[in-house]
Amino acid sequence: MELKRKDLLDIKGLDREEIELILDTAESFKEVTGREIKKVPTLRGKTVVNLFFEPSTRTRTSFEIAAKRLSADVINFSVSGSSVSKGETLLDTARNIEAMRADFIIIRHPASGAPHILARNLRSSVINAGDGLHEHPTQALLDMFTIRERKGKIEGLTVAIIGDIAHSRVARSNIYGLTRMGARVRVAGPPALIPAEVETLGVSVFYDMEEALSGADVIMVLRIQLERQGKNYFPTLREFARLYCLTQERAGHAKGDAMIMHPGPVNRGIEISPEVADGLSSVILEQVTNGVAVRMAVLYLLSGSGEI
Ligand code: CP
Repeated sequence: MELKRKDLLDIKGLDREEIELILDTAESFKEVTGREIKKVPTLRGKTVVNLFFEPSTRTRTSFEIAAKRLSADVINFSVSGSSVSKGETLLDTARNIEAMRADFIIIRHPASGAPHILARNLRSSVINAGDGLHEHPTQALLDMFTIRERKGKIEGLTVAIIGDIAHSRVARSNIYGLTRMGARVRVAGPPALIPAEVETLGVSVFYDMEEALSGADVIMVLRIQLERQGKNYFPTLREFARLYCLTQERAGHAKGDAMIMHPGPVNRGIEISPEVADGLSSVILEQVTNGVAVRMAVLYLLSGSGEI
């Protein structure tokens, strides 16, 4: 089966079969990344451009490693040293990169919908590496991969997503993906950080951590997105931590074998305690490892769309 699309822009638009195809393909690539020689010639001759307008450690590096393990050429476009600082528009910038025959443009941008504009206007495959408050599809795919790998399934699991739901593109992509895969999704946090009418996405809302965590199979802690909060949503970080930081004691309300996830970067002691982040139930670094295999799968599957 092929992924019959040119671009990967969001999880909302993927059906269950497409998500399963990406996760199954990532399993094969995880085997490749475990070999001594971690490289296959699949994308030899292709060019991948990382176009990041926001900071990133995991996603940018992971896409670069994924592309190199598929033998593609990779360019990391540096926004700060580019003609964007002279006023060149996003679309003009991307059109110029495409004119140099880039096959893939991987974009992270503070504006929701920026990748969609490029996808509509370019022949290159566009991959959304996080757009504003909207979506972060490859993060949700690597999260689902990690859950499926650990638990053997996603269907029927109870997943509690904790913290700053309102400003999290990771939460949005995971809500779409996990509900489509048959998980029961709970969201929990301070009322000001839970979006209005989020229940319409098929999730249950909790304001109390212990209730949200009770019987959960998976706990997904989110980073407090201070850079996206235009006003104060809670009195102080200390107050947020007092009520919502995932401590050992709170994690004990979930199932005994519950796995603990965080997309990173972690604010230690604010949304998650260091003991929990580094504890035996934490899969935070496993998520990062799996991100490479998932991004290899996405690049590989999009390259077969017949558009490149
Ligand atoms: N999870 C994630 O998107 O991390 P980066 O911001 O470091 O890419």
